Amino acid sequence: MSKALEGVRILDMTHVQSGPTCTQILAWFGADVIKIERPGIGDITRGQLRDIPDVDSLYFTMLNANKRSVTLNPKTEAGKRIFTRLIEECDVMVENFAPGAIDRMGFPWEKIQEINPRIIYASVDGFGPGPYQDCKVYENVAQCTGGAASTTGQVGGVPTVTGAQIGDSGTGIHLVAGILAALYHRTHSGRGQRVTCAMQDSVINLCRVKMRDQQRLTHGPLSEYPQYPHGEFGDAVPRAGNASGGGQPGWIVKCKGWETDPDAYIYVITQARVFSDLAEAIGRPEWNADPEWKTADARLDKIDEMFSEIEKWTVSKDKMEVMNILNPLNVPCGPILSMKEIAEEPSLRETGTIVEVDHPERGKYLTIGNPIKLSDSAADVRRSPLLGEHTVEILKDVLGMSDDDVADAREQGAI
Ligand SMILES: CC(C)(COP(=O)(O)OP(=O)(O)OC[C@H]1O[C@@H](n2cnc3c(N)ncnc32)[C@H](O)[C@@H]1OP(=O)(O)O)[C@@H](O)C(=O)NCCC(=O)NCCS
Repeated sequence: MSKALEGVRILDMTHVQSGPTCTQILAWFGADVIKIERPGIGDITRGQLRDIPDVDSLYFTMLNANKRSVTLNPKTEAGKRIFTRLIEECDVMVENFAPGAIDRMGFPWEKIQEINPRIIYASVDGFGPGPYQDCKVYENVAQCTGGAASTTGQVGGVPTVTGAQIGDSGTGIHLVAGILAALYHRTHSGRGQRVTCAMQDSVINLCRVKMRDQQRLTHGPLSEYPQYPHGEFGDAVPRAGNASGGGQPGWIVKCKGWETDPDAYIYVITQARVFSDLAEAIGRPEWNADPEWKTADARLDKIDEMFSEIEKWTVSKDKMEVMNILNPLNVPCGPILSMKEIAEEPSLRETGTIVEVDHPERGKYLTIGNPIKLSDSAADVRRSPLLGEHTVEILKDVLGMSDDDVADAREQGAI
């Protein structure tokens, strides 16, 4: 089976998480991703949060699958020549250094485009143009400035960041969409273009429903929020605990074992069209005849009471047992799965969402495979490269350099 992006070559100048997420997706789809790393040092994450001494960290290995690694310093003379040749040979260049870093290497967009008018140049920025455009940004800075932290957390509690890496990985995924759109555009325009994606913008995009609520708030209280009807609303969207962000009320309720197991909980959504079956299942069939309970509107001012009744039922059952009872009734629900449970879940291994790969230095490790499945395009997951593992191979095979040229570049500290 061929791969969707076979024949597309990526000049990968990314580091840490946001950029590598983007290029890893392109690599899973079959693009030839050539990761450029600083000689002797490499992507800083190789050495961060190490679990095994002197071995590439899981931070690095889980974000750089299916790529080839080249060590190159484009700030040296020989390095500039090699970098120029790489720009000539690649379809897409991706980077996520602090603003201006690639320009300071001597490669502003105008020059890159002059070298290869077909190249697409994609960047992750922290902020878009404006007062903060020169700032460095990490995950939680984006979550805080993108509206996620102000709208996440318990009612009355502090702003809270989420474990999902919506700033870094979220932006990387957005950038993939921009690159693929630019690649398609190039098929008829014949030219590459600049693609930029700011982390703040990506988080704002992912918080779209909260901007929806900000505007609704000017027309009255938000009836699905736990503050309704007894609490106070200010002039900005408040934190809503575990309330559902949609039109169907939901909450996290305790299950058997919650006293000792931090993940013995389940999320239950009281979707209106299946509410009567849910009421029967939890032993409150009388709700279905009671005008105070039988319609979604009537229940709105009793959401707390409704979930505490549901919890009286769930707390006597294991979370999977609750799921097995509610799923056949079409009641949307989701057990709180720990990372341990996800790592051990056989169905996720079968679909390739969780993959075990072998690494020459660390041995076997788990990584997360491509969550986007294509029916006619294979998606194998290969281990991350060692630092500079493919330098010689790429300089010779892709750029056509001779052994003497390679030796010369090495002598100058360019590779
Ligand atoms: C993530 C971030 C905060 C990290 O900051 P940092 O570790 O200080 O790294 P910077 O990006 O500022 O700088 C990288 C430097 O390494 C240099 N460098 C990178 N690759 C190199 C190479 N192969 N050879 C030589 N130098 C190299 C760059 O030229 C730059 O040097 P300069 O500042 O002297 O011009 C910053 O890169 C950033 O804000 N990126 C944009 C937003 C982003 O993606 N954030 C999320 C990351 S998960």
